[in-house]
This record gives sequence, structure tokens and C-alpha cells, in this order.
Amino acid sequence: MSFLIISPKKDPKAWIEALKAEAPDLDLEVYPQVKDPSKVEYVLSWRHPHGIYRDFKNLKVIASMGAGIDHIISDKEIPEHIQITRVVDEQLTKDMSVFVLSLILEHLRNLAQHHSQNEWKPTSYQLPEDTQVGIMGMGVLGVGVAEKLIQNKFNVTGWSRTKKEILGVTTYHGDEQLEEFLRESRVLVNLLPLTSETKNVLQKSLFEALPKGAFVINVARGEHLVEDDLIEVINNGHLAGAALDVFRKEPLPREHPFWKNKKIRVSPHIASITNPVTVVPQILENYERMKEGKELKNVVDREKEY
Ligand SMILES: NC(=O)c1ccc[n+]([C@@H]2O[C@H](COP(=O)([O-])OP(=O)(O)OC[C@H]3O[C@@H](n4cnc5c(N)ncnc54)[C@H](OP(=O)(O)O)[C@@H]3O)[C@@H](O)[C@H]2O)c1
Repeated sequence: MSFLIISPKKDPKAWIEALKAEAPDLDLEVYPQVKDPSKVEYVLSWRHPHGIYRDFKNLKVIASMGAGIDHIISDKEIPEHIQITRVVDEQLTKDMSVFVLSLILEHLRNLAQHHSQNEWKPTSYQLPEDTQVGIMGMGVLGVGVAEKLIQNKFNVTGWSRTKKEILGVTTYHGDEQLEEFLRESRVLVNLLPLTSETKNVLQKSLFEALPKGAFVINVARGEHLVEDDLIEVINNGHLAGAALDVFRKEPLPREHPFWKNKKIRVSPHIASITNPVTVVPQILENYERMKEGKELKNVVDREKEY
């Protein structure tokens, strides 16, 4: 039985080292060097070439290298019986929380403006306690971000598919409560998974439901955002601006209008990056569980797509 890494667009060196350090005897292969595809039962995957999983007749588990699994599930040719797992990691949550807090503080304290204008020109600013932050997606990362913001005195609301009770957070759920959730969100943070339901969710009518002067943060996936709609509502003054960490095309092409828009902050998909050293133990634990026929951890619901 072999353990295969498929990561053609990202160098898997750090994963190989971390796996070998934890499990020196692991029968590890790296795609496309596969001796016998029928021996592969477990794959650690990041942005695989779609369609290839049909060739692995005995494959049981596809483990995502990250928290998101849209790169796997968007391949419609993966047989139904194959289980998909994702990463749930404390460090990922901490990194995401600090990143979102930094973006909000940078916005509220007008730091980008001060740093770029080279002029002694103090501005007034809004306090966290006067700022309502709405988080779309109250899963592992959304709840982590909410906790960090509450510690820093922000008013936090959250929106999810199903009803939630989270200490200190006013919660909304479902399409029927979306507008109410948006109405008071001075800062909107997107932490939804990318699914057929959430694709293009950040579009004109959603932006228009936000209060005038709101700020949008997208740290989930580029395909959530209708880019032209965002530019329109920023240019017509409805939104104050946006901070974007994820894009439809990554790296963001040099000629993309986001680079030139002074109200849009671009970062290169760095909100929280999986550290192979901290995550390999959970990957190997699931590998052992699979071999022993035990229930896996962090399994994705393929019907819900997250
Ligand atoms: N930029 C980065 O560096 C980076 C790093 C890691 C992850 N991410 C992104 O962050 C995403 C979220 O990760 P996570 O671990 O927090 O996911 P998660 O634990 O699966 O949580 C997803 C949340 O979204 C809600 N949701 C899903 N579909 C919805 C819908 N149609 N309407 C309303 N709410 C919906 C879920 O609602 P229920 O609770 O009701 O099910 C849940 O609260 C990942 O999928 C990934 O794309 C980005």
C-alpha cells in the first residue's frame, strides 16, 4: 500500500520532509512517479490535475493539504466512495484571526493612507467598540476570528447556513436572514467555503445591502467575489474599500485593475498557510485509521461540499 503526494503546482518538499521525520518507514511516492497506481490507497492532495483519480482503482482517501477542499471537490470525476478530509489546525485558526484583525485595524486607523501619503496629516478614527464586524461563515476559522475580535472589543455578528449559538456573537443563518445580517456590518469578512451555493456570493446586491462606507475583507476564495461588482461599488462611493487575499486567478496578473485601485489592498494568499510540521501528525493519524478501518477525522460532507 502506498501513500501518494499529488501537488504539481506547489513544491511538496516540506511535506516530504515532515512525513519522513514522523514516519521514516512510510511507502511514500510523489506524483507523477507512481510505480503501481492500484497500490495507492491514500493521497495527500493540492490542486491535482482533474480526472486523474479515476486511474487509482483502490484509492480510499484524498486528504487536502489545506482547510479548503474546493480544489478537490470541483473535480466531478472522483468516485462517490472516496472519502475527502481537510485540515483543522489551531495554528491555521490563530494565523487567520491575527491576519483579519490586522486588516481591520489597518483600515480603521487609516494606516495605509498615512504610510503612503508622506504628509503630516492626522485623521480621526473609529474605535473597535463602535465597529460591527459581520463574519460570513461561522465554521472553524470564522469562530476563531470572532473570538479574536471580541477579545479586542469589536461587536461581532456571524452568518452561517444553520443556526448557531456562540458566546458574544449575534448570529444569523440562512438566506432569509442574510439581509438583516448585512444591514449593520461596517466590516464584512468572508470565511465561507467555496461551494456551488457560495460561488459569486460577494456581488452587487450583497454589497448594496451593506451600510454606506462599509469595508469588505475576502480571505476565503477568489471565486466568491464578482470582481467588477466590487470595483463598481467602490468607485461609486458605496463601499470604503476592500482587502483581498484570494483571487480568481493566482498570482493576481500584473495588469489586473485591483493593483491600481488605492482603496483595494491586495495580499498574496497569505492569511493562513498550512505548516506541514504541525499538520502531518493528523494526516498520518487518518492514514493509520484508514488502514485499521476506523472512522476518519475531519471528513468532508460531499453533498454539502464542505
Ligand atoms: N486565505 C487563506 O489563507 C485561507 C486559509 C485557510 C482557509 N481558507 C478558506 O476559508 C474557508 C473556511 O474554512 P473553515 O475551516 O472555517 O470552514 P468550515 O469549518 O467548514 O466552516 C464553513 C462555514 O461556512 C458556513 N456555510 C457554508 N455554506 C454556507 C451557505 N450556503 N450559506 C451560509 N453559510 C454557509 C457553514 O455553515 P454551518 O456551520 O451552518 O454548516 C460554516 O459555518 C475554507 O473553505 C477556505 O476556502 C482561506
